[in-house]
Amino acid sequence: PRDLKIGSAVWGQRDLLDHDPENPTEFQHILGSEFSSLTPENDMKWAEVHPEPDVYDFSGADAVVAFAKANGQEVRGHTLLWHGQNSQWVIDASADWTCQEARDVLEDHIRTVVGRYAGEIYEWDVANEIFQDDWDAGGVKLRTEANPFLKACAEDPVGLLGDAFRWAHEADPEAVLFLNDYNAEGINNKTDAYYALAKDLLADGAPLGGFGAQGHLSLQYGFDESIAKNFERFADLGLQVAVTEADVRMPLGEDGEPTVEQIALQAERYKKLLEGCLDVGPACSSYTVWGFDDARSWVPGVFPEGYATIMTEEFQKKPAYHALLESL
Ligand code: XIL
Repeated sequence: PRDLKIGSAVWGQRDLLDHDPENPTEFQHILGSEFSSLTPENDMKWAEVHPEPDVYDFSGADAVVAFAKANGQEVRGHTLLWHGQNSQWVIDASADWTCQEARDVLEDHIRTVVGRYAGEIYEWDVANEIFQDDWDAGGVKLRTEANPFLKACAEDPVGLLGDAFRWAHEADPEAVLFLNDYNAEGINNKTDAYYALAKDLLADGAPLGGFGAQGHLSLQYGFDESIAKNFERFADLGLQVAVTEADVRMPLGEDGEPTVEQIALQAERYKKLLEGCLDVGPACSSYTVWGFDDARSWVPGVFPEGYATIMTEEFQKKPAYHALLESL
């Protein structure tokens, strides 16, 4: 319905470099026909796109943007300021950065990467996972230790964040600029912190335009039903909201297979994520799954869980796929 975009992550460097429009792989055919939005899973992260101080490598990101264009799809940019997958040179240099040095490096990066795709990206995850969790040492607070940029500017991290949004906005005035995080679906201490930050940034005139809940769920844990209420409060600030990285993983039995109950519960969780977003109306701008097939999912590599996506390794549509379609 309306303008809601339905997306998938895709790793261009891994899955699109060989793309031949006349002869797409089955994966590429599904990616190009089932979705209206693509997010580069890794291709726009520092380690891939900016591997050396003076070297940018846009090959993977270009492949995603070109594939999207060829298939009439739009692109969500991901991500500019994160504690993960930073280039080794950033990690090394940041050991003795002043805040000004960190700012200069970040500004150059943001202007270069966002500027390259200006007009071609409808939403950018400017800042990703910048708050710790309740269970981390120190509790919910900005990641002024793990994130090299926030660390160098720990005396005024909000000032740095506001400028990151300003640099991105100057480089591409059309893109809607997002804060994005996991464990950010319901109302909890982390999303309370995001809500306060969003108000601070807006009061400071920063061009913040959206709040994204990643939606990485596990059947090991319960589901917080307050997602619509949470999204609503961000929408009331004038922001767009989005589910940016949905997947629903689960512990598997010794045969590596899910139970019938798990399969049904997975469908329900995918659907609740979508309905939580739809409930806020037009402020919900996109719903993206973090890959659509189990063969390419990041989950088995990181968690002792699997079966997280909406299609099997052989591209069979799971009940979760049908549940999403029914809700749209
Ligand atoms: C993951 C990718 O899917 C993996 O391929 C990579 O090895 C690690 O990062 N939150 C995010 C995403 O914002 O960028 C992460 O993507 C998953 C968690």
